Amino acid sequence: MAKVVVGKTAEIQEGKLEHITAGGKEILVTKLDGNYYAIDNICTHAGAELHEGELKNSELTCPWHGAKWDVKTGALISFPQKLKPLQSHKVVVENETLYVET
Ligand code: FES
Repeated sequence: MAKVVVGKTAEIQEGKLEHITAGGKEILVTKLDGNYYAIDNICTHAGAELHEGELKNSELTCPWHGAKWDVKTGALISFPQKLKPLQSHKVVVENETLYVET
């Protein structure tokens, strides 16, 4: 497991969707109610980049076909077919720097 820098915590804005590439994986990072969350950035349906989707509370809507994901856990909320969940990643804050574990 690798710990990868996302950026300074002050740069991560509430409700904004950030993304990084770490170890060949695309990871989406966001801040909700002061807490940080990280999940895979690639929709398991057909590969859309989820940071281009829309976030309402903790519900992230895929920009391509509208699957709804829980950005806190990576679980699928709704879609006409069953999809593999998105992997969620542990987030660590140290010295005002945000890291995700891949
Ligand atoms: S690619 Fe996300 S719902 Fe189709």
